[in-house]
Amino acid sequence: MGFVAGGCGFEYESSEIRQNQCDANNAICQDFDNVIWTKSNTALYIPEKMSDLTFSCPPYYKVETYLDYDGKPPEGELNSYPTYAEFRDMLFAGYANAIKAMKDNTFFVIMTGDSRGKDGGYYGCEAEHELFFKSQGLLIYNRIVYLESEFTRRAQAKKTLGARKWPKCEQKIYAFYKGDADKIKELYPAIGRL
Ligand SMILES: C[S@@+](CC[C@H](N)C(=O)[O-])C[C@H]1O[C@@H](n2cnc3c(N)ncnc32)[C@H](O)[C@@H]1O
Repeated sequence: MGFVAGGCGFEYESSEIRQNQCDANNAICQDFDNVIWTKSNTALYIPEKMSDLTFSCPPYYKVETYLDYDGKPPEGELNSYPTYAEFRDMLFAGYANAIKAMKDNTFFVIMTGDSRGKDGGYYGCEAEHELFFKSQGLLIYNRIVYLESEFTRRAQAKKTLGARKWPKCEQKIYAFYKGDADKIKELYPAIGRL
């Protein structure tokens, strides 16, 4: 996201909790002015500037492990919280900081996905995103289903269907909107055809 933003001539400010990921991203983007990842816990991070467009691609609870140079997750790393409720509350605290830094009539785009707890049921993380952003006064403006490789997912079905678990083969890309949706056509350039 930062590379594309920098390549398009935009400023990009990002909070990332792992020093190794910040260093790698900052190295790739060193030729761009004003593209920067700061090592910080997003739940505590207050953006320096008001944003025209906000992104997040958060961890999906307990799906991946995020380790720093020392081979350990940094304190506050979301997937290292022992419960989904703590993960969600800290994730949403970061969103609340970012929402305050959104200019009016701008979008917050999030790629997210759900995962299952030890009881076999989904946490409901995608649905909770929708309810959280709605509670913050934003519109649930776009809900895009990102389809993964059907073949790879279906190949797992023989392991999971015995327990009646359908392999999940999609993630979500949400675009939440802060402001007056009637202004979108006036403020944003026409896109044309898809
Ligand atoms: C799915 S990855 C996305 C990586 C990156 N945003 C990208 O799109 O390339 C989730 C990232 O969230 C980071 N992360 C986890 N907990 C965090 C926290 N509390 N504050 C900031 N970043 C965190 C992880 O280190 C990991 O790099």
